[in-house]
Amino acid sequence: MWEQVQETVNYIKEKTGFTPEYGVILGSGLGSFTDDIKIEHILPYTEIPNFPVSTVQGHKGALVFGTIGDKKVVAMQGRFHFYEGYDMKQVTFPVRVMKYLGVTKLVVSNASGGVNPSYKVGSIVIIKDHINMMPEHPLRGKNEERFGPRFVNMSEPYSKAMMAKAKILAAENNVTVHDGIYLGLQGPTFETLAEYKMVKILGADCVGMSTVPEVIVARHMEMECFGLSVITDMGDEENIEEVNHAEVLKAAQKAEPHVRLLISELIKNY
Ligand code: HPA
Repeated sequence: MWEQVQETVNYIKEKTGFTPEYGVILGSGLGSFTDDIKIEHILPYTEIPNFPVSTVQGHKGALVFGTIGDKKVVAMQGRFHFYEGYDMKQVTFPVRVMKYLGVTKLVVSNASGGVNPSYKVGSIVIIKDHINMMPEHPLRGKNEERFGPRFVNMSEPYSKAMMAKAKILAAENNVTVHDGIYLGLQGPTFETLAEYKMVKILGADCVGMSTVPEVIVARHMEMECFGLSVITDMGDEENIEEVNHAEVLKAAQKAEPHVRLLISELIKNY
């Protein structure tokens, strides 16, 4: 894996000569953030050695390199999900690559189902912590010490300093944000009513099918992480809405301008 990562990094460096400081992973319906980037290079996943290829509707598969203000970023347009059939090493491979391209700060976004009754469809949640209930762990197996330690401290998976800055920027830009705990499940089914209830009882505010593996691997390599979730449906016991992928995309796209703004401002100002 170490060798594969270095091979991919060398390829990208040769192609782009670019050293990003920020890595951005864009969730379902949130891909147009790349419009805020002054783009210098686009590398489709299909051209990058060792990269998996994204299959989900609403996800484009490319690494986008460029600047936001004076900050250099690499954005993943389209991420890899465990439910697509990739193993966790593949799901998190791009995060490893980002690290060795120079990325020290990872910003992730996703769509999720809300179980906190103070949320509504379209709410933007700063992920303050997560609960990992994915069935496979990205760090299972022999540890590669060059990436990081065997036992990873997860007391601050999401950077308090980045969260604080994001809240200030949200207020300055009149964007309402919540904060909450994200619970990661495998999917691809949305939750049953009983499962949404379980998510709530377990202490989470929202539930989704991504983000947790990427953040774990980023923390393994001591990258600073920031996560935003858009509530695209409410898993409320009483009034469960019919949730499907089209609805999720629609809700995410509606919130997207605010998500874009927040991420861009954070990158420029943090
Ligand atoms: N559950 C899991 N993943 C999701 C949901 C949900 O309700 N909405 C968007 N992604």
